[in-house]
Amino acid sequence: MYSEEEIKKAAKDIINSEKIVVLTGAGISTESGIPDFRGKDGLWTKYDPEDFTYSRFLQNPAKYWEMSVELAEFLLTAEPMPNPAHLALARLEELGKLKCIVTQNVDGLHQAAGNTDVIEFHGNLRRVVCIACGEHFPHELALEKAINGELPPLCDNCKGVLKPDAVLFEEPIPRHALERALQEARDCDLMLVIGTSAVVYPAAELPRIAKERDSYRASLFGFSSQSRVLDYTKGAKVIEINAEPTPLTGIVSDYLIEGKAGEILPKIVKEVEALLGY
Ligand code: OAD
Repeated sequence: MYSEEEIKKAAKDIINSEKIVVLTGAGISTESGIPDFRGKDGLWTKYDPEDFTYSRFLQNPAKYWEMSVELAEFLLTAEPMPNPAHLALARLEELGKLKCIVTQNVDGLHQAAGNTDVIEFHGNLRRVVCIACGEHFPHELALEKAINGELPPLCDNCKGVLKPDAVLFEEPIPRHALERALQEARDCDLMLVIGTSAVVYPAAELPRIAKERDSYRASLFGFSSQSRVLDYTKGAKVIEINAEPTPLTGIVSDYLIEGKAGEILPKIVKEVEALLGY
C-alpha cells in the first residue's frame, strides 16, 4: 500500500522534470470495468493467449472472431468511460507536465479523457483492417457482420478477411508507433509506468531504454565502447504505479507506488497543482 510521502515524492519528481513520458497498460483501465490480462481476474485466466497469435488467426479467423465478440461487444456496447486515472493524466498534460502517452491498450480511453498525443503501441480495437487490401473500417461494421453469422467478416471492397487493428502476438508493432515510442523513451527525463505487468516486449523495454538514456547517447556521439557501461544514475527517472511489483521493480524503476492507479494518480496531480500554485 502506498504512503502520502510517496505521493509527494512523485509530485516533486514531476515538477523537477521537463520531458515526461507515460507508459500505460491494461491496469489503468480496470477501474473503467475493462479486465486486464494477467491480473487477478485477467483475460488470460479465461482464454488461452496461444489463440490470439497471428498464425492462429490466419489458420482459423472465424474462431478468432467468435472469441473476440465477447470482449468487443463489451468495449463497443458497454461504452466504458475514462476513470480518474485517465482524467488525471489528461490534467497533467493541461498543466504542461506530460509530453505524450505510449499505451499498450486498445480501448481509446486516453483520447476520450482528453490526452492529445497518444502513441497506440498495440493498435486500436475500434478499427478493423482488411488483411488483403489494407483498407480500414470501423469495428462496429465487422462486429455486426460477425454477430449476423458472417464468420469471419469480410471486406466490402475485396472480400479479404477483416482483422481487428489491434496487434496480435507474433505481429510487429506498427512501425510509426515503434519509432516514435523509442524516440520518446530516449528523450524523456521521467517515465511514469502505470498499470502494466511489464512482461510483454518490446513495450517492456521502453522503461529500460529511458533508464539507459545517457549511456546510449554517449555511444551515438562516438565515445569509447566503455561509455556504454550502464550507469543507471544518469538515465531518466522511472516511477511505477501498479497494483503489484513487476520485473522492473527495484531494478529499472526508481520506486513503485503500489495501489490503484485511479486513487494514486489524482492525488499526485493534486499535489502537482499545489506545487504549481493552483
Ligand atoms: P497485464 O494484465 O499484463 O498487467 C496489468 C497490470 O496492472 C498488473 O500488474 C495488475 O496487477 C495491474 N493493475 C490492475 N489493476 C490495476 C489498477 N487499478 N491500478 C494499478 N495497477 C493495476 O496488462 P499489460 O501489461 O497491459 O498485448 O499487458 C501487456 C500486453 O499483454 C497487452 O497489451 C496485450 C497482452 O497480451 C497484446 O494484445 C498484443
